[in-house]
Amino acid sequence: MNLYRVALPALLLLSAGANAQNAVQGFVHEQSEANSYVWPADTAVLNRLDKWQDLKFGVLFHFGLYSVPGIVESWSVCSEDVDWITRKGNLPYDKYKEWYWSLKDSLNPTEFNPDQWADVMEKAGMKYMVFTTKHHDGFCNFDTRLTDFKITDGPFSSNKKANISKEVFDAFRRKNFMIGCYFSKPDWHCKWFWNPEYATPTRNINYKKNRHPEWWKNYQDFTAGQLGELLGGDYGRFDILWLDGGWIKGDDIGLDSILLAARGGLHPGLIAVDRSIRGKNENYQTPERGIPETQLNYPWESCITLSNDWGWVPDAPFKSPAKVLAMLAEITAKGGCLLLGVGPTPQGLIQPEVVERLEVVGEWLRKNGEAVYSTRTTPLYNDGSTWFTASKDGSSLYAIHIPAEEGRAPETITWSGNMPKGRMTLLDGNRKLGYKVDSNGVVSVKLPAGLPAGMPIAIKFTPER
Ligand code: GLC
Repeated sequence: MNLYRVALPALLLLSAGANAQNAVQGFVHEQSEANSYVWPADTAVLNRLDKWQDLKFGVLFHFGLYSVPGIVESWSVCSEDVDWITRKGNLPYDKYKEWYWSLKDSLNPTEFNPDQWADVMEKAGMKYMVFTTKHHDGFCNFDTRLTDFKITDGPFSSNKKANISKEVFDAFRRKNFMIGCYFSKPDWHCKWFWNPEYATPTRNINYKKNRHPEWWKNYQDFTAGQLGELLGGDYGRFDILWLDGGWIKGDDIGLDSILLAARGGLHPGLIAVDRSIRGKNENYQTPERGIPETQLNYPWESCITLSNDWGWVPDAPFKSPAKVLAMLAEITAKGGCLLLGVGPTPQGLIQPEVVERLEVVGEWLRKNGEAVYSTRTTPLYNDGSTWFTASKDGSSLYAIHIPAEEGRAPETITWSGNMPKGRMTLLDGNRKLGYKVDSNGVVSVKLPAGLPAGMPIAIKFTPER
């Protein structure tokens, strides 16, 4: 049939490495303002949020058509001319779209193994997960009855694990993770969102609602219908509904009644994340690809990629384990959770480069996790490269020092504020540490020799009151 189908994937594979290095996606979603946080009225939601705040570390998987050539998730099919939406090959837009939609015929994750995903993430010390059931391109990783643009209608449809969303959620439930369902409200494949009668110049609907109220109504019904399928029981019970694409609001798709039904039925306490839409359905906020400047004492989560991209790309430049832990320490001290973005390969596995890095993260957390999990914030949360967290009852404080990644481990670390009293221990090995406090209130802690270079150092002490 057409040339592009054959020629383009090869081209993209060659160029995607460069893409990964230069074009880091900007803030698609700015964080909502702090003063706009609205505490939920439903106590079941408050309780679930409190439990979620204990978990601190989760994974966000992006998997879809874009995983096949290894390109930016969905966005290349959107005609906005910005640097992080790269589209190689100089194809006319219509041809490009045609090629992109046709990736449905090549997505065939024959090695799909959600238990491997769950094993890797459990060993990494993660405690919750979010999976893309549908991204902006509209391709469904679940067996929707409302479109055939779905994984259960392509080459993978005869596989017994074809309904991959269900398989992924179940695999993580077996490991007692909190389960989050990512769903994009915008759907660029749905003709009631991007209608084929008009061009599609932006991420928004491409028609006027007041001229085509029935198109808009069809889109609303379609979207609510799909959420109904996901929340209807076939996919089990969810803890988090993570709604992306803030240029469409929850109100546009009747989110209030969807949540009311879900919370009153199968999903009591469901945490709603209508991200970047301020108000009662944004139960936690989601700063993206960055960490807020200061501590925030309401529920929030930074979503940050392990490489530069959300989905799998070839030759991705991954962050080091020490960098991931440094982010986790800072985020924890500021009161948030870290949702780390990982892209499974087009074959359906977590690649060895990711496994290796996350193993090191997990090894550190097995020894030092007490300074992170189930902690709460403490008012003096930072001094230089040292971050402070508190046990829930406030009886212990933890200092997590982030050394330079190069060179040897430090011999001493110092901070001021947060005065210790009595015994101080290095969490790794529960070793007693010597320290002194000088007349200016500067605490100097002597560290044992031979600590691994570049890795964070976690210390426990009783604060002086
Ligand atoms: C942004 C991007 C989206 C990605 C999400 C993950 O909103 O638009 O592609 O899925 O970030 O946080």
